[in-house]
Amino acid sequence: MAVEESLDALLCAAPAEGETARPAGLLAAMRHGVLNGGKRFRPFLVIETTRLCGGDPKAAIRIASALECIHCYSLIHDDLPAMDDDDLRRGRPTVHKAFDEATAILAGDSLLTLAFDIVADDATPLGAQTRLALVKALAQAAGLGGMAGGQALDLAAETERPDETGIITLQAMKTGALIRFAAEAGAIISGADASTRAALARYGAVIGLAFQLADDLLDLTADAKTMGKATQKDAAHGKGTLVSLHGQNWAAARLSQLIEEAETLLAPFGADAECLIEAARFVANRRS
Ligand code: IPE
Ligand code: IPE
Ligand code: MG
Ligand code: MG
Ligand code: MG
Repeated sequence: MAVEESLDALLCAAPAEGETARPAGLLAAMRHGVLNGGKRFRPFLVIETTRLCGGDPKAAIRIASALECIHCYSLIHDDLPAMDDDDLRRGRPTVHKAFDEATAILAGDSLLTLAFDIVADDATPLGAQTRLALVKALAQAAGLGGMAGGQALDLAAETERPDETGIITLQAMKTGALIRFAAEAGAIISGADASTRAALARYGAVIGLAFQLADDLLDLTADAKTMGKATQKDAAHGKGTLVSLHGQNWAAARLSQLIEEAETLLAPFGADAECLIEAARFVANRRS
């Protein structure tokens, strides 16, 4: 996959123009956290929504790579002892286990900043205004009002027991924001009109909710070998999830509803959007 090659090249040992040196140990930790068999679901959405809107595929690969760097950073930090305290990720030791905690923190920091370097760089074949719009949207998706803010609410939810609205809000932020950005990015890259951008953003928000709901369901039902990460952890940590609130059958029914919502949102795009509809089904039916 082109994104795999792109990530490999971005995380190369040679300093980029303007850099002094790339510390080998930190780079190795970043590579461990990125080049390790993730599903690359968010990159897929960036590439497919860009294709749908008729945008530049090379630009899509750059933005997809930037987004995957942020996603991988979020996983490295999510697994830290101060957060979910996990030893296994994508079937391998988590970054703080394979290296150490300080290196894992810095690997996350460096991946987050690398993402914005990639978007802003002239090698991303988009006009300056478009790159700026992507920087803004990605920053909002990743930060206080997006993923990082959602992670804070998620940790607080271990003791504060949020109600259904609270859980939906935290999940829309911790997981939904990056997935929503992935879907919306295709419209931004392609300079699509505001209504197309809004429809794709809504589609992203819907499958973002479905994605975390499926993750929470799999935490309860799947085994660690299939998932490549520990399972049965959410209940043990007292995590507030919709599955813990309403049960497995409700979650399965809600997933079906969310697929239908995604289909409705994509209907105006016709047959061209078939693979994005397939993506919604994949999210809801995935086994790992
Ligand atoms: C895991 O994301 C974290 C959640 C948001 C639930 P993914 O299931 O996309 O993880 P990888 O990238 O495939 O490992
Ligand atoms: C993680 O949610 C969301 C992130 C922003 C990383 P989880 O904590 O449920 O993800 P897993 O189960 O560890 O992959
Ligand atoms: Mg977590
Ligand atoms: Mg976790
Ligand atoms: Mg989980």
